[in-house]
Amino acid sequence: MKAGISRAIALLTLLSFASASASGQGAPAERTIPRLEKRGETTQLIVDGKPFLVLGGELLNSSGSSVAYMKPVWPRLAAMNLNTVLVPVSWELIEPQESKWDFEVVDGLIRDARQHQLRLILLWFGSWKNTYSSYTPAWVKKDVERFPRVQLHDGRGTERLSPFHAANWEADARAFAALMRHLKQVDGDMRTVIMMQVENEVGVIPESRDHSTIAGSRFAGPVAPELLNYLSRNRASLVPELRGAWEAAGARAAGTWEEVFGKQPLTDDLFMAWHFAAYVQRVAAAGKREYPLPMFVNAALIRPNYQPGQYNSGGPLPHSMDLWRAAAPAIDFVTPDIYFENFADWCRLYQRLGNPLFIPEARAGAAAAANVLYAVGAHAAIGFSPFAIDEEGAAGSSERRTADENRELLAASYGVLSRLAPLVLEKQASGDIAATLLEGEAQRSARVSLGGYTMTMTRAAAAAPNASAERAAALFVRTGEDEFLVAGSGRANISFAPNSPGLPIAGIASIDEERLVDGHWVRLRRLNGDENGQGQVLRLNPSGATPGTAYRVRLYRYR
Ligand code: DGJ
Repeated sequence: MKAGISRAIALLTLLSFASASASGQGAPAERTIPRLEKRGETTQLIVDGKPFLVLGGELLNSSGSSVAYMKPVWPRLAAMNLNTVLVPVSWELIEPQESKWDFEVVDGLIRDARQHQLRLILLWFGSWKNTYSSYTPAWVKKDVERFPRVQLHDGRGTERLSPFHAANWEADARAFAALMRHLKQVDGDMRTVIMMQVENEVGVIPESRDHSTIAGSRFAGPVAPELLNYLSRNRASLVPELRGAWEAAGARAAGTWEEVFGKQPLTDDLFMAWHFAAYVQRVAAAGKREYPLPMFVNAALIRPNYQPGQYNSGGPLPHSMDLWRAAAPAIDFVTPDIYFENFADWCRLYQRLGNPLFIPEARAGAAAAANVLYAVGAHAAIGFSPFAIDEEGAAGSSERRTADENRELLAASYGVLSRLAPLVLEKQASGDIAATLLEGEAQRSARVSLGGYTMTMTRAAAAAPNASAERAAALFVRTGEDEFLVAGSGRANISFAPNSPGLPIAGIASIDEERLVDGHWVRLRRLNGDENGQGQVLRLNPSGATPGTAYRVRLYRYR
């Protein structure tokens, strides 16, 4: 009873806090629900009626389960120039007993995020988290008869709910719908929560598919007509991995899974993907009926040569993007958790089919500082978020810098991006934006074209010992004829060459270090001499560089 009263008081406080508009978010005229919108060449996230760039960070899995634990964390995140925090909300915390709801922690997180002018993306740890069902409530875990599990080929159970059972998705969908209903009630006005991730890194391991009786009979049965229709309707635009498997098996219009996609390991993965997507669709749709925030799913990616079951079989991976699209229309986009070195490759794969790129998990540290510039500039990403953003002392500790240095690097990239965001978002839509990335020591240069020029980025001498392998990235925004604003991370030199009709050589007329203050660009240093290679190159982060600045480069042409 007491707990009930204190919860009611907490709810009232949150509601009155919301209407007081204390954080400045969501002034009345802007009260439109966050949504995705096609703008020019890309799809963007619209928050409070305006395009929004998510400069995010994902908390360690357990941090968000305690409002008290989070108290000292929020200001640290705000100081790193984040505008959004990705926070798990688990089924076990909101429904500890069946149909008994507890939103105290959710309310505390929203209230405290607002106090620090931070937005939230909530991660629904429902039926699955990294393939397991560890975040389901104990009353679900204990009742394996009512809530059946994925089975191994020898009949043994696993700690994973099976996606083939209505009891599982009905209970999950009920809880998720309750969460969304509650969010609408406490946050519908302020829109502190801007998106939802539904489940986390779904799939099955260590075997490539569920071997329970019902899963086995589905696998031996016909492929759903909805999927077959989708394949023939969209044949020309299917991702090549899927189209290849289907066509190699004869592009059939009917048949069992192995008849339609071939007797091969990938078929097990596609079979699981279709059923995970159908399950997630039921959960997401139930949530959207209450409060239709944009929703996405995230994927654990594949190491080279891994087979389904070694990786999460059935997850929203590049080869099954079409299946997720066909089976889960309530999911607005699919996302990669990119921890691997070849960041650019994964960005490219997830930008196919018009899927807006959002990276909910990535390596923290110096890598993140460069990767965010690349994703936003080269792939019109709607946002980026390193994992374990709140981990003290460990941000990118596998790299060559201290955790504090790594945090400063990310804060610098986020700082410049937060100032550039309105311009960057406008240029993402018009296409007047590009980026380059140097990924590993072996990669000595990267090249991109924009506005009649080709920019070539090459490595500069390392500032820190052994730092020559560190990433470097540059984001270019075309601001006028022969003029660019450039933001960079890492040590690199950039040269410019014309690639359009006219005089053949590019010269640098000037490079200014600039900073946006109160909506106006303020010039700091004019960079010349040693700072720009005697007028030959743009040097990223030359000595004396102020974190959070951009470079305005003016070019001219001669023969
Ligand atoms: C990916 C998961 O999605 C996260 O929740 C977390 O477990 C990380 N892996 C740990 O590296």
